[in-house]
Amino acid sequence: KQRVLSGIQPTSSSFHLGNYLGALQYWVTLQDDYDALYFIPDMHAITVAHDPKQLRARTRAAAAQLLAIGIDPKRSTLFVQSQVPEHAELAWVLSCITGFGEASRMTQFKDKSVRQGAENATVGLFTYPVLMAADILLYRPHQVPVGEDQRQHLELTRNLAQRFNTRYKKTFVVPEAHIVKGTAKIYDLQDPTAKMSKSAATDAGLINLLDDPKITAKKVRSAVTDTEREIRYDTEAKPGVSNLLVILSSLTGTPIVTLEKDFEGKGYGDLKSDVADALVEFVTPLRAKVEEYLADQGELDRILAAGAEQAREIAGNTLAQVYDRVGFLAR
Ligand code: TYM
Repeated sequence: KQRVLSGIQPTSSSFHLGNYLGALQYWVTLQDDYDALYFIPDMHAITVAHDPKQLRARTRAAAAQLLAIGIDPKRSTLFVQSQVPEHAELAWVLSCITGFGEASRMTQFKDKSVRQGAENATVGLFTYPVLMAADILLYRPHQVPVGEDQRQHLELTRNLAQRFNTRYKKTFVVPEAHIVKGTAKIYDLQDPTAKMSKSAATDAGLINLLDDPKITAKKVRSAVTDTEREIRYDTEAKPGVSNLLVILSSLTGTPIVTLEKDFEGKGYGDLKSDVADALVEFVTPLRAKVEEYLADQGELDRILAAGAEQAREIAGNTLAQVYDRVGFLAR
């Protein structure tokens, strides 16, 4: 069996629709055919200012959401990054084969550091992509399901894997980014040219999975569209309408061409109303399941501890090889 691995940060109390449609929905389906490892990168979450108590709560909330969407700990390994110390250890080795210039070209660092004021950005935020490469390479996955915004980090990961393999000995699998074209970038409902993100200036265009469904429906009804009337997929001319079509198509499993036909002669209000209904139908049972998982914290922590143990078996193996190959004495 080939392997998949991916991670989602616990930087908010709820995942958003972009996370789900761009990545998480594929995590669930890939479990069927792959040996799957999914984790919560809490070490990445401390690269920016954070509250410790909140981080702990958000890490558990992330685990509960992953279980609720259908990540099955019997079939997949679900774990928290900081419970597997090999991530930090491999990150150090990889940082020693990463060029300073190479790291400086990571656009996400540029974006995030500009927001914080470049002088205040942490070194951790700067080396974040190297830790991400370690997250991946430790498990030798073939596929890494992510959204478009992670493509450059995956490219760096592939380069580091190849570099290590040639400099020392073939150690890492060079992973492929599993990015699904139609859903790779879900847009903000208020600014359909910007990706949906929890760091947007306002949250009016952000659909959180755990929000009150009434709020979600309201946000959909006030989504920005355009001054035409035609419901047609055209990302250039009609980014708002196209985004709504992508969302509806993904949630209902109906191809966009079919939706275009169904909406012939109908208006934007009808489209929004269908998107709102599909979302409410999706999030309502999800919220209930998340509540259930969160209610039994002991069980949640046990699932994560078991996941970390399984992950460490793989990660420990890879790290031992890496340490040997770079010339460290055996522990
Ligand atoms: P994170 O936590 O920001 O996002 C989790 C996943 O959601 C995707 N995503 C989107 N997809 C489509 N449209 C959007 N608007 C949208 N917003 C977010 C992201 O691409 C991602 O797949 N660096 C990673 C976490 C990470 C990781 C890893 C991922 C750390 N180590 C190793 C894979 C492998 C991140 O910050 O994702």
